[in-house]
Amino acid sequence: MSAIIIDGTAIAKQVLAEQKVIAGQLTARGNTPGLAVLLVGDDPASAVYVRSKERACREAGVQTFDTRLPADTSEADLLKHVDALNNDPKVHGILVQLPLPRHINAVKILQRIAVEKDVDGFNWRNLGALLDGHPALAPCTPSGSMILLDRSGVPVAGKHAVVLGRSSIVGKPAALMLLERNATVTVCHSRTTDLPAITRQADILLCAIGKPKMIGPDMIKSGAAIIDVGINRLPDGKLCGDVDFEAVKEKAGWITPVPGGVGPMTVAMVIANVVSAARRSTG
Ligand code: GUN
Repeated sequence: MSAIIIDGTAIAKQVLAEQKVIAGQLTARGNTPGLAVLLVGDDPASAVYVRSKERACREAGVQTFDTRLPADTSEADLLKHVDALNNDPKVHGILVQLPLPRHINAVKILQRIAVEKDVDGFNWRNLGALLDGHPALAPCTPSGSMILLDRSGVPVAGKHAVVLGRSSIVGKPAALMLLERNATVTVCHSRTTDLPAITRQADILLCAIGKPKMIGPDMIKSGAAIIDVGINRLPDGKLCGDVDFEAVKEKAGWITPVPGGVGPMTVAMVIANVVSAARRSTG
């Protein structure tokens, strides 16, 4: 039996259409949601991500404010840009595209973004709220992954969810969100011993490790839901996930493709966070 392919592009479109309705209501009240994107340097992959976020904003009726700065921008200058956006009432969300040049302390920059404008959900207060079960602005890739599970009818409560990767951006928040949905959660990482023995127990397997096609059919349970967060570029230029999609789809119950799975949902959740920040700004 072949898995249900979770169409992230289609679900992201639904989410954007829903957000567009709310954005329209806010615009009618004179409070059009606005996202400011700060891009430092000329990393081509970052430029692609930023363009896709801006396209989604246009689709959903969200204003964008674009700042592109040279790679040699100082940390002090970047902090000044963040401060100006923190104080601009037209801006409801601020996104500093990562990675930043090495001479800039990314933690310092990200923690300077006002907590109520932190649409990436990386601020320690927002991460703390998530930990305590009161998410306000939550990280977009894991929250998008949860929507993919919810809207595909994947049962989560009481199931064993295994998260591969322990980053603050994906793995740890994903584990908290699965726990909040009453899954039994195991988090695996580079020092985990006998990974296949654990992944084979997973009813839900969320992979965020950045290793092309590392998860094969021998590592999964039959009928499992596989959420592939990895975006890796192969030597031939094609994109692939952390999962060997073609082989695993024959054994899984549900699976997200790469591209067209989690990626579009991350972008849609940025927009959802901007709209929610704009809504909250009006009380
Ligand atoms: N670069 C790659 N992924 C992300 C993300 O989710 N947020 C930001 N700000 N930069 C990124």
